[in-house]
Amino acid sequence: MTEKTAAQPAVPTPAVSPAVHGPAHDSVFLRACRHEPVSHTPVWFMRQAGRSLPEYLKVREGIGMLDSCMRPELVKEITMQPVRRHKVDAAIFFSDIVVPLKAVGIDVDIKPGVGPVIADPIRTAADLQRLRPLEPDDVPYVTEAIGLLVAELGATPLIGFAGAPYTLASYLVEGGPSKNHERTKAMMYGAPELWAELVDRLAVITAGFLKVQIAAGVSAVQLFDSWVGSLAPDDYRRSVMPASTKVFEAVADLGVPRIHFGVGTGELLGLMSEAGADVVGVDWRVPLNVASLRVGPGKALQGNLDPAVLYAPTKVVETKAREVLHAANALGTSGHIFNLGHGVLPSMDPDALSRLVAFVHEASAR
Ligand code: CP3
Repeated sequence: MTEKTAAQPAVPTPAVSPAVHGPAHDSVFLRACRHEPVSHTPVWFMRQAGRSLPEYLKVREGIGMLDSCMRPELVKEITMQPVRRHKVDAAIFFSDIVVPLKAVGIDVDIKPGVGPVIADPIRTAADLQRLRPLEPDDVPYVTEAIGLLVAELGATPLIGFAGAPYTLASYLVEGGPSKNHERTKAMMYGAPELWAELVDRLAVITAGFLKVQIAAGVSAVQLFDSWVGSLAPDDYRRSVMPASTKVFEAVADLGVPRIHFGVGTGELLGLMSEAGADVVGVDWRVPLNVASLRVGPGKALQGNLDPAVLYAPTKVVETKAREVLHAANALGTSGHIFNLGHGVLPSMDPDALSRLVAFVHEASAR
């Protein structure tokens, strides 16, 4: 039967990622994700694409953030810029966590210096109907841009990503960025059935967005639950973990490592690992040797230099980076991907990032 039925998943599941047979498969980044021996610790930076790079500001001139995500040639150029400049061990696909929401019809814009703003926030059962599953045809520009990038990157892996249900829900319910997530939590605590359906629908959209990227050739995926650190473990387990687990399960058999990251998640690391991650991202508040005990055996760790350290003199950056590498020795000789504990900041000196990459490569060479 070829007719599409309601029971079929919105995005057909590829057998395994084409990246499994691609030239990046034996890269240090993917070897570290799989806990295999590496010649040096791989390093890349969250939010490395865009932000402080002058060449980024130049190509983005006059083009809105979300418009730029829909232009494959531009996406390719912006994704490549930090790879060329910093010599990082992985590229991250230039897009945004709200791209799939826009693709299913949510009226969202990214305001410079503010972040995502939602015209009509999602607050009632009727609002939920607007969150339909994502189809590959909704994001043809994503498939096209990844195709261009995989060809250009060769042996350098490309990381795909999506926002996790909680973090996406926080923007949708609040209507924009929020410090305390009052309305989001009011729904989570006060209307648990509505909340469960909201995060479940977001899990379907997110899983669909990741599957499109995997089918197009990304080598790994990262689920950003940036703001989930505002929850206590029991609330995370009850109200968020089922939806995040659903996302990880949807892409479990596709042959690409799954990275799970959030900020301020020291108390959640064990649960975030359990949700289905192969690699757990750690912010700067928990040393990697402590994080590895919380995350459990067999998982790789990613992190975790305080981004603000990059504003200190080079010698200090190197001392702090060495401390991160030293704490990661608790993992054995592999299983560590060097990163910042959160994203690159817009005012950061790009040269400081390039120097840090060279230092990590040299200091971790084995
Ligand atoms: O990592 C990369 O370089 C790849 C691209 C990427 C962007 N956003 C591009 C972007 C990634 C991985 C993201 C993820 C993202 N987007 C997250 C999770 C990561 C994190 O930092 O915790 C979140 C929470 C968002 C939502 C969002 N989009 C915010 C908070 C902002 C910043 C607003 C601002 O201007 O300070 C954006 C806009 C955005 N996304 C920019 C970029 C390069 C800046 C827009 C611009 O340059 O005009």
